[in-house]
Formats: sequence, C-alpha cells, structure tokens
Amino acid sequence: MKDVTTYIENHKNRFIDELIELLKIPSVSADSAYNQDVLNTADFVKKSLEKAGCDNVKLCETPGYPIIYAEKIIDPNLPTVLVYGHYDVQPADPIELWTSPPFEPVIKKTEIHPEGAIFARGACDDKGQMYMHVKAMEYMISTGNLPCNVKFMIEGEEEVGSESLSWFVPRNREKLANDIILISDTGMIANDIPSITTGLRGLSYVEVEITGPNRDLHSGLYGGAVANPINILTKMIASLHDENNHITVPGFYDNVADLSLEERAEMAKAPFDVENYKKSIDIGDVYGEKGYSTNERNSIRPTLDVNGIWGGYMGQGAKTVIASKAYAKISMRLVPNQDWKDITELFKNHFESIASKSVSVKVTPHHGGQGYVTPIDTIAYKAASNAYETTFGKTPIPQRSGGSIPIVALFEQELKSKTILMGFGLDSDAIHSPDEHFGIWNYLKGIETIPHFYQNFTELSK
Ligand code: BES
Ligand code: MN
Ligand code: MN
Repeated sequence: MKDVTTYIENHKNRFIDELIELLKIPSVSADSAYNQDVLNTADFVKKSLEKAGCDNVKLCETPGYPIIYAEKIIDPNLPTVLVYGHYDVQPADPIELWTSPPFEPVIKKTEIHPEGAIFARGACDDKGQMYMHVKAMEYMISTGNLPCNVKFMIEGEEEVGSESLSWFVPRNREKLANDIILISDTGMIANDIPSITTGLRGLSYVEVEITGPNRDLHSGLYGGAVANPINILTKMIASLHDENNHITVPGFYDNVADLSLEERAEMAKAPFDVENYKKSIDIGDVYGEKGYSTNERNSIRPTLDVNGIWGGYMGQGAKTVIASKAYAKISMRLVPNQDWKDITELFKNHFESIASKSVSVKVTPHHGGQGYVTPIDTIAYKAASNAYETTFGKTPIPQRSGGSIPIVALFEQELKSKTILMGFGLDSDAIHSPDEHFGIWNYLKGIETIPHFYQNFTELSK
C-alpha cells in the first residue's frame, strides 16, 4: 500500500475542494428551516459514494431524514466492514461569535494546525471525518487496493438522537451484516500523540419546567409572599450536587462500573498537561467530583449538567416581575452499566420529590442512549493500532472519551457487532462551538490511515 501517500499527494487539492463543497450545505437537523439543505446534503453524499466506485448506492427513506447506504462486495468469503457516519450538523448558533460565516468554509492557519484548518460547521463533526472514508474508498477502489467488503451507512439525525436510524437498523439486519463497524466521529489526544477511543458515555437528556403562580406577578406587590419559580428552580438544581460534587439523585451511582486501581493507573499514563488544559479554555482552575482526576471526571465518571436555563424577563433594561414559570435543560452523561431509561426515571422521581408545595414540577425526557466500551483485545483494535503505527510512527494510546454516540450500543444489540472508533479530530477543533474546524493534516492523515486498517483487519481475520 505504498502508493496511498502518492495518491493523496496527487489528489489532495480536489479532496479539500470537495469537502469544502459539502460543508457549504447547512445540514442542521435540529432546525426544520434547513429541511431542504439536509436533503441536499444526503444527495451530495450519495453522489460522492457513487463517484468513489461503490455499488448499490441508495437513499433509504425513513420516517425522518434519509440514510445513505452503499457497498462494495468483492468476495463473500472476505470480512465486511460497515462504515457509519453522519451528514447532519449542529446548529451554528451563536453565529455572531464565528470569525467567518459557518457555512462559508475557509482555510486558516492556527497554532495547532500550522498547515491550515478548514473552518466551518461540521468540518470535524462529522462531515470531514465521514468524507475521509469516502476518499479512502475512492483510493482503494480506483487503485485495486480494496482488500475486503465494505458497506456504508451514513445518517442525517445523529445530532438529534438518531431516531430514524434506530428504526432502520432492526429492519435491515441482513443488509447491514458485518464483521466490524468502523466510525470516525471522535477525536485523538494530539497530532503527535495518536489515540484510539475505547469508550463513549451514555446520555439522558431532560427538560424541567417549574410553575408557580398562574400569571407573572409584580415582584413588589407579591415578592416575599409567593414562591418564585426561578429562585426555586436554581435551589433545586444547586441541590443536585453535594459539597464533593457527587450527584445527589438517590440510586444514581448504583450501577456505575468502577475501574480497578490498576485500570486507573493505566489511564493516568496518558499524557495530559493540566496547565495547558486550563489555558486552552481560559479557566482559573479545574473543577469536579472529589477523588477523581480531570481525565477521569470527563470519561469514566457520570455527570449532571444544566445546558440551558431560562424564565422571567430577559429583555433590555429592568422589569420587576415574578415569573409564573422557569425552565432548564439538563443532561446526564452516563457510564457503562448505567441504564439511561432507569436514570431518567430516578431523576424524574427525585426532582419531583424535592420541589416545595408552592410550585408544580414537570420533567420531560428528551432522548438518551447507553454508553459503550470497546474491547482492546480484538483483531479490530490490533488492526487499527497497527494502522496508526504505520502512518503516525507511534503506537496509539487507548482512551475513553466523554462524548456520546448512543447508536453504537444499539448496533451491538441489533447487529451483534463491535465498533472501532478511529477519530482524527482534536478537542481544540471546537465541535458544536463557534469556529469549528478540522486540520487539513488530520483530514489527509485519516484518508491515509483508513486503508491500512482495512488491510490489517483482512489479514488478521484469516
Ligand atoms: N461526534 C459527537 C460525539 C463525540 C465527539 C464523541 C468527540 C467523542 C468525541 C457526536 O456527534 C455528538 O455530538 N454526540 C452528542 C450526543 C447526541 C445524542 C446529540 C453528544 O455527545 O453530545
Ligand atoms: Mn458526530
Ligand atoms: Mn456532534
């Protein structure tokens, strides 16, 4: 596979231009105003898989946005890799904080990406990373370097909970049958410290509503005599953590899979510079659950965070008012063995029970999913590890991530296959934030590394 670097060198400008075209389409799945753009993006992905040489490329209709399926079956006796990715993106808000428009991709140099990075919503999550697979496929098919069977399944609702994919997968078990699922939708430690993601956290996302009086009240006439829903809500939220930053929801930690001291010691070997970490996000100090390191807090430990909170008067100037209602959106990141439906129930019961009688509480679950830990004693892990070793010149470090891709647990349940997470993004790429970007070096390194995975996986499967 010596010619992969030559192929990339010869075609890299086109690879970059094509990704830029893909990034121009605002495929925001959360906002129905972008409905047509999401559909156009699906078409773009379909055409690019056709151009890459895949067979049977189909836009599969679902109750929501279409799923793109494609395949290249060269020999039923060879292993089959199923590539998953998503073509939808997060909303670009707050747009005013972007230094260039989110859907007008530009290449800019940064300290971490001296070769330049493409700035656009979805550059890293996940259009850039998904498209690496399309280009790796183009290389393998056009040069006769495809060593096994490959299937693609690219969805358009990952950022809103993958509802249609959950519908699609159990209905297409046969079509999706595979030996390993390959996903590039995570990150690595640094460009000179490659890592393979070995865990994802689960998620329970809820919205809470506190209702006090039946209308907004004058805060002078009624203030002091009536429960203020916003005051009550903030008190309730504050009570969800104790002085050690443990979550107080009864039963919350019951099923948490604790790591052994050996496993924690192994984890602690991963390079991490807390001063750099603080500097990169401008914070005075780190914060979190007592007894755990920063890397543990954001990967092997569960969390509870308010994602948004509102109510009352939020316009210009001052208005004296006790609002009738207060709201918050709360997410809980979960770890292996915590069941997201159980946790949602525990939260709901607890939150309702701690409210004072002077208000009423409504808890509405949004979406959620199970966490996932990928084994490292498998041929898939070995194949991935050797691939990085070849292209980065270093053995990658296994590392559990704090993010979530809830559909991965469902893949295992429905398709009985494991997933390998080969992510090439960096935490500093600002996914979900203003100025999201993806390093050109990372994009091309991904395209280079993927064919080695296929090759190694096929050989190790023999
Ligand atoms: N690609 C991310 C998840 C991710 C990023 C995992 C980096 C590990 C490292 C994915 O698109 C995402 O944003 N997931 C959501 C959950 C989803 C249900 C909205 C998340 O983690 O908040
Ligand atoms: Mn993603
Ligand atoms: Mn995302």
